Amino acid sequence: MRSELEQDILKVLVTEEELKARVAELGDALYERFEGKNPLFLGVLKGCFMFMTDLVRACQLRSDIEFIAVSSYQNATVSSGKVQITRDLQQDITGRDLIIVEDILDSGNTLAFLKDYFMTKGAATITIVTLLDKPARRAKAVEADLSGFTVPDEFVVGYGLDYRQQYRNLPYIGVLKPEVYSG
Ligand code: IMP
Ligand code: MG
Repeated sequence: MRSELEQDILKVLVTEEELKARVAELGDALYERFEGKNPLFLGVLKGCFMFMTDLVRACQLRSDIEFIAVSSYQNATVSSGKVQITRDLQQDITGRDLIIVEDILDSGNTLAFLKDYFMTKGAATITIVTLLDKPARRAKAVEADLSGFTVPDEFVVGYGLDYRQQYRNLPYIGVLKPEVYSG
């Protein structure tokens, strides 16, 4: 496939094939946990969008989907710590078994905030599924129940993850060249 994004990528951390195989495993793991239970897949926009579509297809349970959008980065590469809801839930989640779908668990600020928020909204159970886990930078005591890949302390893009809203459409997870940030 032709690509004008590839020239900005220093290295590929997770290939398209590896993503596909791991998402299938995560789908199976969720199936086993939630068989007969009608969970609500709750994606955290925008980063989750690609992972979410693949994950729900990999998990043929009776279930529905919902999204919430938050912003904490304000276009920087380091979390500001403050989380704002920019698009709220559009349905009642009282009594629901939630499967939160995140792109990456980094400082933990976003998921710590969302976990509290969903509990106050009456969720019965909360299961956190993150595609990537970057444990090196954790500031809040929050862990994923299921995680796709552990990544080193580098800023990654692709498969939903952005740098200044770009690179979300890369089919793999990669690290940007340093000159992309400075330029
Ligand atoms: P946290 O609140 O620091 O855990 O970060 C959560 C959010 O920050 C993620 O959902 C991403 O949108 C964003 N984020 C954290 N690390 C990265 C990265 O390496 N690349 C792109 N986005 C990131
Ligand atoms: Mg995100």
